[in-house]
Amino acid sequence: MKKTVTKTGKTAALTYWVVINCKTILIKDEDSGYNKNLFCIPKHYEEDIERVFIPHGLILDRTERLARDIMQDMGSHHIVALCVLKGGYKFFADLLDHIKALNQNGDKSVPVTVDFVKIKSYCNDSPTEKISIVGEELSALNGKNVLVVEDIIETGRTMKALLSKLKDYEPKMIKVVSLLIKMTNRSPGYRPDYIGFEIPDKFVVGYALDYNEYFRDLNVSTYECCVLVPTGECK
Ligand code: HPA
Ligand code: MG
Repeated sequence: MKKTVTKTGKTAALTYWVVINCKTILIKDEDSGYNKNLFCIPKHYEEDIERVFIPHGLILDRTERLARDIMQDMGSHHIVALCVLKGGYKFFADLLDHIKALNQNGDKSVPVTVDFVKIKSYCNDSPTEKISIVGEELSALNGKNVLVVEDIIETGRTMKALLSKLKDYEPKMIKVVSLLIKMTNRSPGYRPDYIGFEIPDKFVVGYALDYNEYFRDLNVSTYECCVLVPTGECK
């Protein structure tokens, strides 16, 4: 147990694995998640899943707060929410539900439109990654507040390449939100504007994150990201 002093001078207890630094929830390497038998896992994945890493409810609660922070910063002008497919689609849908709720119930509201991009990247090991954006006409970004919605960021190279392409459309503002960011020494230090959870350098699946297209359907309401079994290739 770690202790911290609140603004009011009272001592508050923080569990060792959650550090609230007003930017993200940090999940440390030693945090082993939850026993999978306490959750509803589809039979066809039971063998492949080791532990439940971040429960669904926690993702949704964190997403609600991200929506509030985003609307505070971006909510004075038309927003284009840009989903990075395929992994971003669940987070995108849930984040937009929260943003719509804020728009509906707040004193002020702005139009929120959506767009989708799929990224093809080349030269994965190169420090300057080359990408192409598949199948989208993005001229609608011009003059708008653009929110790029991503599921997970590892090195950040693909995101940096995407951002430099999006700037060609001359948006008024671009911000990036990623549900997850990995703590890895392969990263040159890129950090998005909003982060759901900062996680250890482990392969996670569920909540639309896949391994060879499998596990995207691990999104029943009880759990989400899970660490694959140690025998799995991508552990
Ligand atoms: N899981 C799924 N997709 C990913 C990951 C991961 O851990 N990292 C980068 N893409
Ligand atoms: Mg992604």
